[in-house]
Amino acid sequence: MNQATLVLVKPDGLKKSLTGNILTRLSETKLEIVATKMARVSRELAADHYRHLKDKPFFDDVVKYLQGEFHDRRKVMAMVYWGKDAINKVRDIAGATNPEEADPVSIRGSFGRITTKGVYENVIHASSDEKDAEREIKLWFKPAEIIVDLYPTKDTIIKDLKTKQWV
Ligand code: PPS
Repeated sequence: MNQATLVLVKPDGLKKSLTGNILTRLSETKLEIVATKMARVSRELAADHYRHLKDKPFFDDVVKYLQGEFHDRRKVMAMVYWGKDAINKVRDIAGATNPEEADPVSIRGSFGRITTKGVYENVIHASSDEKDAEREIKLWFKPAEIIVDLYPTKDTIIKDLKTKQWV
């Protein structure tokens, strides 16, 4: 069954120049990239992304981590991968969430680490199931930024909306 999944190259992945390596590894899945962008991450966006963790002791640190506060890279690369069994295929190559438990040849096993405070810096985020994927994709992307129709949309006319255009 075709599925969509959100992948984020987190600030440590960018700082370590791993983007090319990660894309090459993920191309083994033969999935299609249907959306991609570099994104600045506000505290609101990071906190919303990790909202299911808001009662965990590491919540504040994962939010700061995703914002790039620990790596001097205040951005992430966000992508939507699409195709058959996309969620599990991406998660297999990403490796386990805990980089110490991840297969050593996986992305997280190869490049992740646990900080002295016990927070995982695991290089990429990958959606864990279809419900999370839909929530996360809708959080990070607008419908027009995705080149396939993943979820139902509605047309809205926004009058007097100020947007930047090329001069
Ligand atoms: S849950 O509820 O713990 O199963 O949450 P999960 O969906 O697996 O996501 C946990 C995210 O928090 C990051 N993180 C940690 N998790 C557990 N323990 C520690 N110490 C920790 N530090 C950070 C973890 O990397 C997950 O984020 P993503 O972006 O999915 O890797």
